[in-house]
Amino acid sequence: MGLDYRDLGGGGTERRIQKLKELHEQASLGGGSKAIDKQHERKKLTARERLALLLDEDSFQEFDKFVSSNSCPTPGDGVITGFGTVNGKRIGVFSQDFTVMGGSLGRAHANKICKIQETCTRAGLPLIGINDSGGARIQEGVISLGGYADIFYRNVQASGVIPQISAIMGPCAGGAVYSPALTDFVFMVRDTSFMFLTGPDVIKEVLNEEVTFEELGGALTHNQRSGVAHFQAKNELECINDIKRLLSYVPGNNLEDPPFHDTGDDPGRREERLATVIPNDPNKPYDMKEILSLVLDRDSFFEVQSLFAPNLIVGFGRLGGHSIGVVANQPRELAGVLDINSSLKGARFIRFCDAFNIPIVTFQDVPGFLPGTNQEWMGVIKHGAKLLYAYCEATVPKLLVTTRKSYGGAYCVMSSRQVGGDWNLAWPTAEVAVMGSKGAVKITRRRELNEAGGPEAMAKLAKQFEDEYKGEYLHPYLAAEVGYLDEVIDPRDTRPRLISGLEMIKNKVINRPRRKHGNIPL
Ligand code: HXC
Repeated sequence: MGLDYRDLGGGGTERRIQKLKELHEQASLGGGSKAIDKQHERKKLTARERLALLLDEDSFQEFDKFVSSNSCPTPGDGVITGFGTVNGKRIGVFSQDFTVMGGSLGRAHANKICKIQETCTRAGLPLIGINDSGGARIQEGVISLGGYADIFYRNVQASGVIPQISAIMGPCAGGAVYSPALTDFVFMVRDTSFMFLTGPDVIKEVLNEEVTFEELGGALTHNQRSGVAHFQAKNELECINDIKRLLSYVPGNNLEDPPFHDTGDDPGRREERLATVIPNDPNKPYDMKEILSLVLDRDSFFEVQSLFAPNLIVGFGRLGGHSIGVVANQPRELAGVLDINSSLKGARFIRFCDAFNIPIVTFQDVPGFLPGTNQEWMGVIKHGAKLLYAYCEATVPKLLVTTRKSYGGAYCVMSSRQVGGDWNLAWPTAEVAVMGSKGAVKITRRRELNEAGGPEAMAKLAKQFEDEYKGEYLHPYLAAEVGYLDEVIDPRDTRPRLISGLEMIKNKVINRPRRKHGNIPL
């Protein structure tokens, strides 16, 4: 066992306090100076250095520092756990210590994490897990697998009750990736963090495929390709600062309101640029992020999953100091179309916001769902339904600004009044219709076009019909006439209109019938 009990008892209080100090010093060393040097050589900080960067000075209250086990001679058993504050906000934390048996997880190590998970869930504190582990401790066999399963179970019980954040700061293999995958946000660090179920060696053996650690499960892979991770940082310090920033938008638990931060930005600020941001040609792209930066409180937008499915932007921001979740189509990427990945990305983000009382503000310019065999065979119906489900299910205030296209099924999905939108605004450049002019004319005027007498005459006639269709349908006023849109606004007024709307409806309450849980189309 880790602690040497000889000579710990006996003697007066002063001696006993001195012994306690010595024990603390011993336990703080982790795997010792050699292993610490090795960790630094790998451009990685130690578990305690990471905590020192994350937590407010002197705020850390450590739990279970003297826990140890038969398989691990070092007090603490390879993980540091406890509570502290981050910019004054109370949180729970665990930080795996790679210098102790590669941060591998055995029974005692798992028990420490479970204890923090339970206390955070009961006390309503966000939990941050810093993962740096070789996975299940081989020497403990199935006992360590049971430890992982205990952690997974608690991750799920805590889901939607407290925000759960995972930082991956080393190799995470096997069981070590499933706990992060069950949490709300996964942060990775370029070059030093990896996530995979089976490593490159096994892949070579089983499939005869050559792949590097980085390609298989590096930060870029999981931020861009798989969507497993939500953030990547260039080093550990940047990663920890990103976690701190994320915490500033979210409440401690599902019963609290999100934090209010007076940003000093004028709620009545109008922006001239918004009157010219939409190009005259409706097929020309523009950058939705420019609109976000003009409308939201200055510098408040914090993007989530910026590299995955960039045709849909999601992230946190502030409006008049209130935390909001932003969901926005990006016309610069695939014309802002909805596809499988963007639906998954949007649905998961919306469900997080809804669970934690964060209003959702949607900026819409979407030509519809992406057609094609690839998408259909991969199940775009099922995955698109997740986004639809998430919008329908969310009971937080939902505000919408339609800047341009709102076509077809995408109209319904993206925060329409019918799926529970509370405050639906549109710019005069909005085109709320079943489809664009080309597709509509081909269907509704086919006979006349076929009888036009040659390709040239057909093209000329098609152009005429398209212009007629645009005039008649590609505007927001049919939707405004039937109350599907609450107001068509001057784009320059977007910020003040959204802020007053948000303040008006922020105490919205919806009571749903009792049920065990819904059945989102997974
Ligand atoms: C016990 C382990 C360990 C493990 C590493 N160590 N992983 N000890 N159990 N799982 C020890 C090493 O023996 C070594 O001890 C020290 O940690 C540092 O490891 P190194 O290999 O020297 O470090 P590095 O070269 O950086 O490689 C890191 C690594 C590699 C990529 C993580 O150690 C590795 O492949 N480990 C095994 C990963 C794995 O397959 N885990 C089991 C996954 S299965 P010394 O004494 O030499 O310093 C799993 C099932 C759960 O997790 C399923 C639940 C669903």
